[in-house]
Amino acid sequence: MSSIKINSSKTISNVFLAPMSGITDYPFRVISSKFGNPNLICEMIASKELIKKDKSTLLRAKKHTDNNNIPFLIQLLGRNPDEILEAAKISVDNGADVIDINMGCPAKKVTSGDAGASLMREPKLAVSIIELLVKKINVPITVKMRLGWDKDNMNVIPLSKDLESSGMSMLTVHGRTRDQFYNGLADWSYISKIKDNIKVPLIANGDISSIDSAKECLRITKADGVMIGRAALGAPWLPGQIQSYINDNIKQEDQPLNTICNTIITHYEMLLSCYGIERGNRISRKHISWYISKLNTTHDVKVFLSEIYKQTNPIKVKSMIKSYLLSNNEIYLNG
Ligand SMILES: Cc1cc2nc3c(=O)[nH]c(=O)nc-3n(C[C@H](O)[C@H](O)[C@H](O)COP(=O)(O)O)c2cc1C
Repeated sequence: MSSIKINSSKTISNVFLAPMSGITDYPFRVISSKFGNPNLICEMIASKELIKKDKSTLLRAKKHTDNNNIPFLIQLLGRNPDEILEAAKISVDNGADVIDINMGCPAKKVTSGDAGASLMREPKLAVSIIELLVKKINVPITVKMRLGWDKDNMNVIPLSKDLESSGMSMLTVHGRTRDQFYNGLADWSYISKIKDNIKVPLIANGDISSIDSAKECLRITKADGVMIGRAALGAPWLPGQIQSYINDNIKQEDQPLNTICNTIITHYEMLLSCYGIERGNRISRKHISWYISKLNTTHDVKVFLSEIYKQTNPIKVKSMIKSYLLSNNEIYLNG
């Protein structure tokens, strides 16, 4: 199992890095693609904002250019069908190979505008959005959703059947309800029930933390593919590793320390060039902390991070990263 057919002509790989707002931006996507991540999805983009075509929103939807063979999915957020349609047209002009509609975001600022997971409470509207896009847009239309709004309203199965009848090409399900946000465990066995009810490819998402858990998730859910979110923070290579394990049975070695060091520095440089020095430095801090927290070290991580957070001179930041990672005998890679 390595690829899935999402319409009569388009085939894509079955491993996805999850869209994560504020995280899977252009630099993160490019870096994870260098490690073999086979699909790229941009973080959700509000249709309303994309229509305005301002520079910062277009940057969020920027397509990687160095490897056009990697499919690019643009995820749109919204509830007004005409606005979403306009945003979808701009996305296709921007190079999107697939348009994904967000029906799962639990954030209050999104659901209070009746978008994201709120669309699961308005099945007629959800269906009308997909019908319109399928009619007017010439690339596959996919959906990402949760199990339902709360445990008394788990409507993912009837809704996904309706969306399939409307022309949806693929469904990703995060195995929690909106009410759970990120609490509790993702319910992989519930995802398997969805698989019994739809024919379009189903991608399982939620709590996949390693290559072994990806395999276990596929076994339980019987899904056609997997999507990896938080486990890829500080580990942009994880989707690529999962891809080569589940498809080619190759278990890649952990990244050597100098690769991790070079990746952090490249990521840092890309953030500065995308966002400018001040904002780039600010954004880089969470990424540096995720990379470092994945290492097994007795060296004082907190002291290192607090020192690097104070530093804004890019040359000094890079040299601090290098000296912390490469001249430190007390760092081991997590097994
Ligand atoms: C910080 C953050 C931002 C997220 N942003 C998005 C988003 O833009 N679009 C989306 O569909 N899901 C978003 N999600 C949800 C993830 O795509 C994924 O469904 C969720 O994290 C569960 O997968 P995981 O357990 O592998 O992290 C976000 C999650 C996090 C933690």
